[in-house]
Amino acid sequence: MYRTHTCGELRAENIGNSVTLSGWVQKARVLGGMSFVDLRDRYGITQLVFDDSKNADVAKQAQELGREFVISITGEVIERQSKNSKMSTGDIEIVVDKLTILNKSEIPPFTIEDNTDGGDELRMKYRYLDLRRAPLQKALELRHKMGIEVRTFLHNQGFYEIETPYLIKSTPEGARDFVVPSRMNSNQFYALPQSPQTFKQLLMIAGYDKYFQIVKCFRDEDLRADRQPEFTQIDCEMAFVERDDILNMFENLAKHLFKSIKGFSYDGDFPKMAYSQAIEQYGNDKPDTRFGMLFNDITEMVHGKGFVVFDSAEYVAGICAEGLASYSRKELDKLIDFVKKPQIGAKGLVYVKVNEDGTFKSSVDKFFDANEQKAWAEKMGAKPGDLLLILAGNKRQTQSALSELRLEMGSRLGLMDKNTYSPLWVVDFPLLEWDEKSGRFHAMHHPFTSPKPEDLQLFDTDPGKMNANAYDLVINGVEIGGGSIRIHDKDLQAKMFKALGFSKEEAEEQFGFLMNAFKYGAPPHGGVAFGFDRWVSLFAGFDSIRDTIAFPKNNSGRDVMIDSPSNIAPEQLNELNLSLTKPTE
Ligand code: AMO
Repeated sequence: MYRTHTCGELRAENIGNSVTLSGWVQKARVLGGMSFVDLRDRYGITQLVFDDSKNADVAKQAQELGREFVISITGEVIERQSKNSKMSTGDIEIVVDKLTILNKSEIPPFTIEDNTDGGDELRMKYRYLDLRRAPLQKALELRHKMGIEVRTFLHNQGFYEIETPYLIKSTPEGARDFVVPSRMNSNQFYALPQSPQTFKQLLMIAGYDKYFQIVKCFRDEDLRADRQPEFTQIDCEMAFVERDDILNMFENLAKHLFKSIKGFSYDGDFPKMAYSQAIEQYGNDKPDTRFGMLFNDITEMVHGKGFVVFDSAEYVAGICAEGLASYSRKELDKLIDFVKKPQIGAKGLVYVKVNEDGTFKSSVDKFFDANEQKAWAEKMGAKPGDLLLILAGNKRQTQSALSELRLEMGSRLGLMDKNTYSPLWVVDFPLLEWDEKSGRFHAMHHPFTSPKPEDLQLFDTDPGKMNANAYDLVINGVEIGGGSIRIHDKDLQAKMFKALGFSKEEAEEQFGFLMNAFKYGAPPHGGVAFGFDRWVSLFAGFDSIRDTIAFPKNNSGRDVMIDSPSNIAPEQLNELNLSLTKPTE
């Protein structure tokens, strides 16, 4: 028998028991005639004692142990000499009388500890060692529990979990597809699904009126902290529903997860905010509402005073950073450097210190007198001691830069507490977005999203003005999920494809199966999909989704452990009737 208990289980009540444990050597140290070994498994760590004076053979054997050896021991649980209240097993230790080395280990390339000395690439290369570390084990436990809670909740609401295929058809909308050549259908390719969108709609037509699936999705897009090329969605769809039926159902799912996983009760309804309001007040469509610091548009107040930066700007707006009038010249210069970073993209930053004594000190004193600066401070709700930060330029770009600055200031002021959850639904997104490059409209969500019923008449006159019956769930500035009420009428769907620049033939070729299905009694339907990795990461308090995934890709989309993607053999290419136009040397 390898074990009677796990390494996280034994307590003072077990004193006197004879036990067998197995696990990995976390650490081994010799002190005089005694050796101490920390034995680890995923449940915890137990201290083992090898006493030379009591059992010399076993104590000698223990001196051979190195980090990460796999061992099994039998011994007696005794009261620990120097108790460790930080460890759940800290009241006891085990005097070992039998030791079996099950497997030796080479010295690991980094220490298997909470704060490891391993850099990212090294940890990824030896991911199986990285996964032995407690923070990752906790994250995967959290992920498992959240999956169970999602399934339990949705099962209790009458949902079926139904799998949909991974080898599907490439479509031009959204991100780039990953494609898979077909051996049996020469010169043809499958695509991996970016989401099960059309399949879940077909399931509604097939009469399965409550569907969900915890499902892998694949997108060939540039990676960021919250994006992986393969990621997991909690994908959901319902028939015979209106927008608020869906929001209610999934708000309850979110509340269930808050309660069951974080022990946090959210009272009342999640606020709803129109997309336009989110952009005006927060500069982006996923506002972090844990704190205020809303945007104040002062364009009208600052034009025509001879300051060319403001005069030439389409939009001038600022935020009020509470209590930061004490910032030094150096700190302000650093802030200016921050907004000028290419990823933020502002050309400069104007500041106004609202001094404690009622005076003002700003970087534009030459152009604006104290009365004018006072008017801005009043507009921004500033108190003595506060700092106004103002950006100017093209409206959309300035909103986006100010949004980054707001988050930076929120973080500096400690307003982004990871244990506070501030959810909201962002609603009423535009249906279409004009793309200058291709000179055509793109669907802001996807081409199956229904316009708001009251905007339908704009389809023929001013399609860019239509709002979508779409919604996103945002928590603490993270887009956790998004969805919409779908089009279920074939003529409206055809109109939508036309607005998106598809010819009749292209629409037929790409989405004929769906249009066809709409001919046979499609019920009104709608749904939502949540980013499971993002949700776990939010609850784990991580800044990246990577450590919520057992085997993630790095920023270049590579799995450095298995070394993928990789070349394939000439015979494989041949079989697929493929040749490489630029073969690697
Ligand atoms: P959408 O494209 O908004 O909608 O995706 C839904 C949610 O999935 C998460 N997400 C990602 N997570 C990690 N890595 C990525 N690369 C990534 N891309 C998206 C986000 C996002 O909110 N079929 C529609 C949903 C619907 O209409 O029902 C869809 O896929 O959290």
